Amino acid sequence: MTEHRQIYKCEVCGNIIEVLHPAGGTLVCCNQNMKLLEENSSDAATEKHVPVIVENKVKVGSVEHPMEESHYIEWIEATDGKNISKVFLKPGEKPEAEFSFDITSARAYCNLHGLWKSE
Ligand SMILES: [Fe+2]
Repeated sequence: MTEHRQIYKCEVCGNIIEVLHPAGGTLVCCNQNMKLLEENSSDAATEKHVPVIVENKVKVGSVEHPMEESHYIEWIEATDGKNISKVFLKPGEKPEAEFSFDITSARAYCNLHGLWKSE
C-alpha cells in the first residue's frame, strides 16, 4: 500500500517517482520492487541536508550543501498544506529556492544522500 507523496527509487536504473494517488499495488521497475526513500530529518554529517525554512524561502541546509556535478541538491519542494511546489536545481546553482506561499514544510533531494525533510 502506497501513501500520498511517497517517493520511490529504482535501484537498477535510477528512476525516481512520486505517488500522486495511493493504491494497493507494489511499484516495480527493472523487474524489481522500487525502494521507498525515507525522509531523513536529522543530520549527523558535517555537510548539511535538512531544509531550513525562512519565510517563503528554503535553504539546504544550515551549512550550505555542495552543488557540484557529482554531488548536489536535485530539487527542493515546499508546501503550505494545500499547494505543493518543486524547484529543480543544477550543479553550480545555490541550494535554495523561493516560493509564492507561506511554507509549512519542505523536502529536498540530494543525489547521493537521498530525501530530507524540514524539522
Ligand atoms: Fe549530500
